[in-house]
Amino acid sequence: MLAESNVIRISDGAGRLGSERAFDVLARARELEAQGRDIIHLEVGEPDFDTPEHVKRAAIAALEDNHTHYTPSAGLAGLRDTIADYASRFRGIAPFSRDQVVVGPGLKPVIWNVLSVLLDPGDEFVYADPAYPAYASAASYLQAKAIAVPLHESSNFRLDLDELEAKITPRTKVLLLNSPHNPTGGVLTRADLERIAEIAIRNDVTVISDEIYNRNLYDAEFFSILEVDGMRERTILLDGFSKAYAMTGWRLGYAIMPAYVARAVSLMGQNTYSCTATFVQLAGVAALSGPDEPVQAMVAEFRRRRDAIVAELNSLPGVSCKTPEGAFYVFPNVSAITRDDAALASYLLEDAGVAALGGSAFGEAGRGYMRFSYAASLETIHAALGRVRDALPNFKG
Ligand SMILES: Cc1ncc(COP(=O)(O)O)c(C=O)c1O
Repeated sequence: MLAESNVIRISDGAGRLGSERAFDVLARARELEAQGRDIIHLEVGEPDFDTPEHVKRAAIAALEDNHTHYTPSAGLAGLRDTIADYASRFRGIAPFSRDQVVVGPGLKPVIWNVLSVLLDPGDEFVYADPAYPAYASAASYLQAKAIAVPLHESSNFRLDLDELEAKITPRTKVLLLNSPHNPTGGVLTRADLERIAEIAIRNDVTVISDEIYNRNLYDAEFFSILEVDGMRERTILLDGFSKAYAMTGWRLGYAIMPAYVARAVSLMGQNTYSCTATFVQLAGVAALSGPDEPVQAMVAEFRRRRDAIVAELNSLPGVSCKTPEGAFYVFPNVSAITRDDAALASYLLEDAGVAALGGSAFGEAGRGYMRFSYAASLETIHAALGRVRDALPNFKG
C-alpha cells in the first residue's frame, strides 16, 4: 500500500513554486500571539492606515445597489476607462484606451497572468535581485530561466546598467523593473530608465514595469519608463490599489499594455478567476476619481516614519541603513552582526517579539540584510527598535 503522502501526486510545476516569506512569518507571528505573546509586526508590506472613507462608501453603495454579479474578465468598462485616463495623466503621456487595460483581483495574479502569456520554457527573464518573490516563482513555474542582476547598496540599490546589459542575451525575452523597489526602497532615475529603454529597444526585449509603489516616493518626482520614446509598444505597466490607497485586502490591481497582449492576459484571467469582485471594482473607480488628500496624508506620514526608522537603525551597533527614496521598507545591512539574516529574523521574532524579514527571503543578493516595513505608527516603530536594541547583544549568529 502507498504511504498516505504518496496517494495524490503533486505536479513538478507545483514543486518549482517559491513562497513569500512575509506570509510565513506572519503565520508564525499569529501562532505566537495565540499563545499570548505580544508581537510587533514589521514584516508584511501593507499600509496600516484605513482605506479612505469615500472608497468604503462607494463599495457599500455598490453592494446596496446589487452590483454583485460577474463582470467582463478584463474588468468593468467604467473602471478600465478610469484607469486608462488616470494612468496616462499621472505619467503625463498620451491617453491609453480601455482595451489596453486588464483588471484583476490584486496585482499579484495579474503578474502571474502577464508572465504566463509572455514566457515559454527556456526563455530568459531578467530581474533585479533582491526582488518581490512572486516574479521568480512564476518564471520558475513556467520553466523560464530567471536571470538575476544583483542590486548594490553602494548605489542605493539602483541597477548597475553595465551589469544589466551584460546579462542580456538573444534568449532574453522579458526584463522586469520595479521602481520604487520592494524590498530595498531603491528608485531608478530618469537617466537610468532612458538607458534601460535604449538597451531594451536595441535587444528587442519586452519590459514589465511594476510601478505599484509610484505614490510612495519621498524625495523625487515619479518617472516611468513609459515616458521614454519608443517604449509604449514594448512595455507592460503594472499597478494596483493595495499600496497607495491602503486596499491590500480588497484585492484590486491592473496592467496596461498593447491591446493584443491585453486580450491574451484577459483570457488567462477568464480561465482562472473569471473576474474581479464587482463592488470592489466600483470602489476602485471611487479611489482614482475621488479626493487625493488621503493618499497625500499617508505619504507624508510614511516620510516621517522612514526618517525615524533610518535614524534608529543607524544608531544600533553593527547595523547600517541607507535612506530609501521610495516604497515603505528599509533594508539595513546587518552583515557586521551576521550573514545569516534568516536566523536573525527568527531570533528577533521568537525572542524579541519583532516580526521582520531576512533579506535573503528576496534573493541571494539580500543576504546579510533585513527588511523592516515601516507601515506602522511612529510609536510602534520606536517600540520595535527598542526591543531590537535590547535583543541584539544576545544574538548568537
Ligand atoms: C513589488 C510588488 N508588486 C506587486 C505586489 C502585489 O500587490 P497586490 O496586493 O495588489 O497583489 C506587491 C505586494 O507586496 C509588491 O510589493
